[in-house]
Amino acid sequence: MRRLLLLGVTAFCLCACITADTQPDRQGDKSLPEKDGVLQLKKGNFNRALRKHKQLLVHFYAPLSGDGHRVSAAFEGAAAELQGSEVKLAMVDVSQEKDLAKELNATGPPTLRLYLSGDKHNPVPCPVPKNSASILTWLKRRAGSPTDLITDLSQSESSDELQVVGLFKDLDHNYVQVFYAAAVDLPDVSFVVTQDKELISKYGVTYDVVLLLQKSKLIQAYKMTPQTSKEELIVFITVYQMEPVTEYNGQTASQILTSPVMNHALLFANKSSEDFNEIHAAFYSAAKSFRLKVLFVFVDVDEPRNGRLLEYFRVRVSEAPLIRLVNLTNHVTYHLPSDTLDAETIKKFCQSYLEGKAKPKMQSEPIPEGWDEQPVKELVGMNLEKVAFNPDRTVFLMLYLPYSQRSRALFPLWEELAEAFKDQEEVVIARIDASANDINLVLQESYPALCFFPALHAERVSHTTSNDLFFMLEIKKLLQAQKLVGLICMLSSAFLCFVFACHVSLMCT
Ligand SMILES: *[C@@H]1O[C@H](CO)[C@@H](O)[C@H](O)[C@H]1NC(C)=O
Ligand SMILES: *[C@@H]1O[C@H](CO)[C@@H](O)[C@H](O)[C@H]1NC(C)=O
Ligand SMILES: *[C@@H]1O[C@H](CO)[C@@H](O)[C@H](O)[C@H]1NC(C)=O
Repeated sequence: MRRLLLLGVTAFCLCACITADTQPDRQGDKSLPEKDGVLQLKKGNFNRALRKHKQLLVHFYAPLSGDGHRVSAAFEGAAAELQGSEVKLAMVDVSQEKDLAKELNATGPPTLRLYLSGDKHNPVPCPVPKNSASILTWLKRRAGSPTDLITDLSQSESSDELQVVGLFKDLDHNYVQVFYAAAVDLPDVSFVVTQDKELISKYGVTYDVVLLLQKSKLIQAYKMTPQTSKEELIVFITVYQMEPVTEYNGQTASQILTSPVMNHALLFANKSSEDFNEIHAAFYSAAKSFRLKVLFVFVDVDEPRNGRLLEYFRVRVSEAPLIRLVNLTNHVTYHLPSDTLDAETIKKFCQSYLEGKAKPKMQSEPIPEGWDEQPVKELVGMNLEKVAFNPDRTVFLMLYLPYSQRSRALFPLWEELAEAFKDQEEVVIARIDASANDINLVLQESYPALCFFPALHAERVSHTTSNDLFFMLEIKKLLQAQKLVGLICMLSSAFLCFVFACHVSLMCT
């Protein structure tokens, strides 16, 4: 039923989009509404604006979003500078114009898109701008060519700001194109192209290298190869633009979150505590070994504004200092399993994570008092492994969601089962709340799920085989009695556990 309803809604949306596309502009020639030089676009006039302007830079803004205000200010500043140019700026309030945003696929980032020659389907995404200069630089670089970057190096070399200097032997080489493409995507960074031979001896480098300079000091050099991509160059620049360890705060948050490095190591520590300097130094030392692979971030737990971050990572202030690694691609977190946060331990942890050997962090409720006193044992993340993988016991485990009716419908059955086996010490009937405890089992994401772990010890096998058979029949009988259908059986290699995902037929009855 729900699926049908969803299909209906989708079909309705599609129809709405199609009608919008074929609808003639009812407003005819009325001029497009403008505010401070920025077009205010809606569903009814978007197509007209697109036809009228060869370059239309549109800001899709949500009034209450985090970045929204800053980007809006940058956008207005740029509009003033761009009066009379080929580029027209426009904005769409996505909180009001939901249909239009959906039609344009503008419901997520990027929030700034440049539409060229009326092409609605292939806008060029504009990087999130820091200020109006970012937008102007981006437009200029996008329309320009690498030779625009040739300037007097002597001035920029000593600049306080980071300079990205491309030292190339041949300006027609593909290297220069890759370098320029990176410059377009990083409008907030100064880029210079040079063939100046003197730099070679001055910085001890060769041709076809990208130098990061600040105050005439070489921070890092990157040798271009035919395989170097724009993305790799961007990672290099954005990583070395930051310190090895960045403290998380209002200024650095967006830099951290937009970093192309998707592996983050987070140190949660109290900046005012006695051991802070020592721990930070160890973290810093490890950071230097993983610069292009892992972004190192320090979070001060003594700063109340970091509360939300702590909550997100489920870190309690009392647990600090601790280190987490997070894979931002799939949001899996890893916990450094050690009380000694020295450089060597941190490095080993990062290495094992990168090699895919680290174990994801297990979230667990505290072990409930009297968890093993009732016939049904109450497991949590912390004692799951110990109880369920005990080779001397045959364990039948229910994974449930406390708020799900389908899960709760199984509770009486579980009580009954546990009651039947309560005198057999080698059989354990247990359950675990899957919403509050991470369960390190390969399962279908469908609850309630039933896992069966037969006892493994050799001398028990013969003894338990017949017992298991009886056990299974007993369960089948019970399941049938409860009108439960669809018993699926899977074999997991690790512990030879049989996993029964039980699809309760409540929806059909
Ligand atoms: C939005 O995305 C859909 C599916 O990816 C595509 O068919 C459609 O043309 C896109 N619309 C625009 C305006 O680009
Ligand atoms: C951080 O450490 C200082 C000094 O030991 C202490 O006064 C403060 O309460 C700690 N902050 C937190 C949030 O525990
Ligand atoms: C991070 O997650 C992605 C997506 O699941 C995966 O491909 C990648 O290997 C993970 N990285 C590490 C270092 O585990």
